[in-house]
Amino acid sequence: MAYDEKILRRATARYDEEKQRRAEEFRARQRLCFAAAPRLEEIDRTLRQTMAKIVTNGLRRGTDPRSAIAALRAENLNLQRERGELLVAMGYPADYLIEQPACKLCNDTGWTEEGRMCRCLKAHYTREQNKELSRMLDLGHQSFDTFRFEYYSHQPFPGKNTSPYLRMEKNYDACRDYANEFSPKSGNLLLSGAPGLGKTFLSASIARVVSERGYSVVYDTAAHIFERMEAQKFSRGDDEDAEDDVTRYLKCDLLILDDLGTEMSGSFVQSALYRIINTRLMENRKTIISSNLNPAELGTRYGAAIQSRLEGEYRILPFFGEDIRKLKKK
Ligand SMILES: Nc1ncnc2c1ncn2[C@@H]1O[C@H](COP(=O)(O)OP(=O)(O)OP(=O)(O)O)[C@@H](O)[C@H]1O
Ligand SMILES: [Mg+2]
Ligand SMILES: [Zn+2]
Repeated sequence: MAYDEKILRRATARYDEEKQRRAEEFRARQRLCFAAAPRLEEIDRTLRQTMAKIVTNGLRRGTDPRSAIAALRAENLNLQRERGELLVAMGYPADYLIEQPACKLCNDTGWTEEGRMCRCLKAHYTREQNKELSRMLDLGHQSFDTFRFEYYSHQPFPGKNTSPYLRMEKNYDACRDYANEFSPKSGNLLLSGAPGLGKTFLSASIARVVSERGYSVVYDTAAHIFERMEAQKFSRGDDEDAEDDVTRYLKCDLLILDDLGTEMSGSFVQSALYRIINTRLMENRKTIISSNLNPAELGTRYGAAIQSRLEGEYRILPFFGEDIRKLKKK
């Protein structure tokens, strides 16, 4: 799993804030209990002192510390029992003043012993990533559940051997299955067709599901991606934000590159697109591209090397029908 540094930093900050808040709550709880029963504070202090003694006794050389430690342990147990009884008498659970980790899987570190991100931190990561995706996409309204088929005609479409409706059923199913089954074994998608047919809508729907399944997902328009890559290239390492963005584009689990073909063309764009497509294929990272151009037109614009990769490594989903932006206006 490749995590996005920027999002990981934000997620970790939120995670630490929450941990801090829990620690403060625990201290407030302690203060209340100590005020109500000063003996509890005494016990707390003694417990901490005996813990320290056990540690120093264990480290002392020359003498056998075992009996001393055993005595301290027994004293500790007595104090803990007394504390539990006092708390229960006050109407609290016996372990009310024992600080527990919120997540037992990772002891509130956010990472498992094998070095994987724990569920508890991942929940924050997903939340921060969805916030980032929402800056560009309407994740709130565009989802597989809100996708509507009534915009697509049942009449055979001129030049095609099927109707927009039947075609969109296939596209919808392909995108929904892709999102639900997304894994390193998934392929890549090319959503290709005229404006206003739901390509960005379906991309947003996929982004949301894949993100919520714990993968790193980056969405951006082709024009902006190339702009950032150009900034990175010509700043020669001085533009850290651009460096970060390019790393995101190259390393995320799923990149959604939208509106390919609308940017200003040029030789830089051609090599940047090749770099993205090729690097991601080589490193087995998944990409979804959407464009108003079909593979042949993309080949003319970006060259045979790119066309060949698109035709060989991408599942092509053709979109046709009536522009929904116009239909909605009527
Ligand atoms: N199946 C659908 N159900 C409901 N609304 C839709 C659907 N498809 C598209 N829309 C709406 O129609 C508008 C255009 O859709 P979208 O942006 O996905 O088109 P597009 O294919 O990406 O077009 P372009 O090529 O111009 O980027 C948006 O407001 C979108 O929310
Ligand atoms: Mg679009
Ligand atoms: Zn955890």
